[in-house]
Amino acid sequence: MGKYKRHLITAALPYANGPIHIGHLAGVYVPADIYTRYLRLRGEEVIWVCGSDEHGVPITIKARNEGVTPQAVVDRYHEIIKRSFAEFGMSFDIYSRTTSPTHAQTASEFFRTLYDKGEFIENTSKQYFDPEAGIFLADRYVTGTCPKCGAPGAYGDQCEKCGSSLAATELIDPKSAVTGATPILRDTLHWYLPLDKHEEFLRQWILEDHKEWKTNVYGQCKSWLDAGLQPRAVSRDLDWGISVPIEGAEGKVLYVWFDAPIGYISATRELLPDDWETWWKDPQTRMIHFIGKDNIVFHCIMFPAMLRAHGRNADGESGYATTALGDFILPDNVPANEFLNLEGDKISTSRNHAVWLNEYLEDFPGKQDVLRYVLCANAPETKDNDFTWRDFQARANNELVAVLGNFVNRSLVLTTKYYEGRVPAVGELTDYDRETLAELASLRTAVEDNIENFRFREALKDVMGVARLGNKYLADTEPWKVVKTDPVRVETIMNIALQITANLAIACEPFMPFTADKITRMLGIERPKWDTLGHKDILPAGHVIGTPELLFERIEDADIEKQIEKLKK
Ligand code: 2FM
Ligand code: ZN
Repeated sequence: MGKYKRHLITAALPYANGPIHIGHLAGVYVPADIYTRYLRLRGEEVIWVCGSDEHGVPITIKARNEGVTPQAVVDRYHEIIKRSFAEFGMSFDIYSRTTSPTHAQTASEFFRTLYDKGEFIENTSKQYFDPEAGIFLADRYVTGTCPKCGAPGAYGDQCEKCGSSLAATELIDPKSAVTGATPILRDTLHWYLPLDKHEEFLRQWILEDHKEWKTNVYGQCKSWLDAGLQPRAVSRDLDWGISVPIEGAEGKVLYVWFDAPIGYISATRELLPDDWETWWKDPQTRMIHFIGKDNIVFHCIMFPAMLRAHGRNADGESGYATTALGDFILPDNVPANEFLNLEGDKISTSRNHAVWLNEYLEDFPGKQDVLRYVLCANAPETKDNDFTWRDFQARANNELVAVLGNFVNRSLVLTTKYYEGRVPAVGELTDYDRETLAELASLRTAVEDNIENFRFREALKDVMGVARLGNKYLADTEPWKVVKTDPVRVETIMNIALQITANLAIACEPFMPFTADKITRMLGIERPKWDTLGHKDILPAGHVIGTPELLFERIEDADIEKQIEKLKK
């Protein structure tokens, strides 16, 4: 991990307007958790920050519809989301929220610095105002007839029928989506970040200096840059959010996409009040943003432009990572994933076409790792992917139960049966033993190389490859037969099988932490260090293992049918 001293991992702050579903987990949090756990196991200095994104228009609309305050909405979902993450083993160093006082202070100071340096443009424009609700309407909340194709129900930012992007003022017969009233145009003043001024820098930084970024990320950045960047408003007329911290800006708040990424800074500040700047300003910090593809433009273009504008010298020169503790650093990588669909259809909160984590755990208690496994094995790393309950069942039964669970169980049960749980000593090795051990030894570099390059699916395949190797080894050496004729040989076989099991306790940790704990417990050991991965002498002869239990249970047809039915409702 070369020139860096520490790693700052961020995962997109989820909106606190609903629970978390499998799409969130597969796209962002499972990969971020794997990566962070891996870095910790490698002994790297690392923190992982996250929290709830609690501002923005949808939260205010939800509150209005429910007749409660926006604060009540975010309080409810923040708790639900936080609990789900904890239950699924997301190993954040801090899970904060953007309604925290530290965040209000951090975001205000950030805005104020940019304002004082003249990094914004002020501009008055006409925007739709709902006279019944007494609020300005975000583009998404104006609907009407599409001027391009004539379809009704187009949104003020896009027509979903013909795909054209629109301005709200172009809609024919506009209506407020909040009250149904006909909106009127009103003048309103806002602050804009002139992204066009940062375009040349961004082109160099992304397109030339970061050719190693994932192709989906690089490609999206390139098309934004090729289309030419425009100034982007960083304030909104809304009564929910962080007030624009300048005089004469009453009733205006920071745009949610201005304050949310600053939430990463605020969370770091809450975690390390005295040391947070080292994590954000020392060029020896390597920052990685884990996000979904809909967040690419904000993390690769807008937030970097904000960070750069903040740190830029008065002469407009310099830019990133030049001075120790001067400028903010920029991300070294943004490994965004594509989307996960569900049973061939887009995951949708409004249509309730989703698998919610809180509900999953009600139906599959204790099966967090099964979901973590399936979501990683089928992660939308390079293209959109589909989650189906049949595939979930097949992977659970044919891979986790039949391969990993079966191997671990056989090695532990046979040890209990033949040696009362005492690890037998290794004797003379056959060629086949040596081949098996050589294959085991090659595991470490394969897994590391894949994780370090954000290929988590491949890395997980390598880990399962170890379980397959173990299964094959037992099937080929047949200790249950040989024990009758050559018990000394069986001691060697079982020693090797147990060493492979101990390797699995290490290798599973980033992916399936609960399973890794269980294997470790059944082996009756402290978890071996990552550096011993691939070794053939992790368990000393004579060590007594714990009591074997089944690692995974089968998922029955009825369990799956129930889920499929639930989605149809
Ligand atoms: O897309 C989303 O769910 C946003 N709430 C992500 C914000 S990421 C970061 F900038 F906070
Ligand atoms: Zn249209």
